[in-house]
Amino acid sequence: MTTPNFSIDLSGQTAIVTGASAGLGLRFAKVLAACGSKVACTARRKDKLDALVSEIEADGGVAQAFALDVRDAQQLKAIIPSVTDALGQPNILVNNAGIVDAEHATRMSQELIDDVLDTNLRSVFTLSNEFARPLIAEKSPGRIVNIASIAATNYGGNGAALYSITKAGVVRVTEALAVEWSRFHINVNGIAPGLFQTDMSDGMVERSGEFYKQFPRGRIAQPEQMDSTLLFLVSPSSDAVTGTVVKIDDGQSPR
Ligand SMILES: NC(=O)c1ccc[n+]([C@@H]2O[C@H](COP(=O)([O-])OP(=O)(O)OC[C@H]3O[C@@H](n4cnc5c(N)ncnc54)[C@H](OP(=O)(O)O)[C@@H]3O)[C@@H](O)[C@H]2O)c1
Repeated sequence: MTTPNFSIDLSGQTAIVTGASAGLGLRFAKVLAACGSKVACTARRKDKLDALVSEIEADGGVAQAFALDVRDAQQLKAIIPSVTDALGQPNILVNNAGIVDAEHATRMSQELIDDVLDTNLRSVFTLSNEFARPLIAEKSPGRIVNIASIAATNYGGNGAALYSITKAGVVRVTEALAVEWSRFHINVNGIAPGLFQTDMSDGMVERSGEFYKQFPRGRIAQPEQMDSTLLFLVSPSSDAVTGTVVKIDDGQSPR
């Protein structure tokens, strides 16, 4: 009988997840650890990361918490050596940290503009480079998964214009770096979620009401519905898949 070329065994690997203190990133960290990867859980709220690490360890996984503000380029440069010392050379990076501006373009302060650009886009480009450089030097393969958004291609005009712009940038970072690093066997892919239940979407529902009831399925998607796509993109058996962004939106939006 034919054995499909697919494995989600990540033992021997080290992953970094940004924005692991809540929402999708927290789920990504747990799922990667459950498949055998050591996981560096990063975000600003260290107390939340410590609780996550305890949970992963109680389930038999290996993880460590690292305080990281992705807006700070110096911290982005320091994090890879710190993780390497603690858990070994990272070969999986999930660029997940993100914020939503929830504001019309002309009403945004310069501080908010900088925060959204630095958190959602500049960090993805900078950290990807920091992650890739040692792998390229060692001729080791790597996997990057960038969390974009359906907002990269859909914007209804009622606030979050810059969020949409940064997420389009994340898609382009994914495509451009995939091409540049193909020869180094560093695969760069993305996920473009629709509305998923997290602190971020709770805030949107608080501000705008239960708009998800208008979706064809009348529901918000749940973080665990993204597990299979994340694992597909980091699986050793998907090594020909690079430069792809998978939309996961539960059929919420038009195409
Ligand atoms: N939920 C959705 O419906 C949805 C849809 C499309 C795309 N996305 C994308 O999915 C990703 C995760 O979103 P989520 O819904 O899980 O949001 P969330 O529940 O609000 O969590 C956001 C995470 O990002 C971290 N973060 C924010 N600013 C940071 C900074 N400056 N430095 C380091 N970490 C930072 C937060 O950690 P700290 O506050 O502890 O630093 C937190 O862990 C984002 O990129 C978002 O744009 C979400």
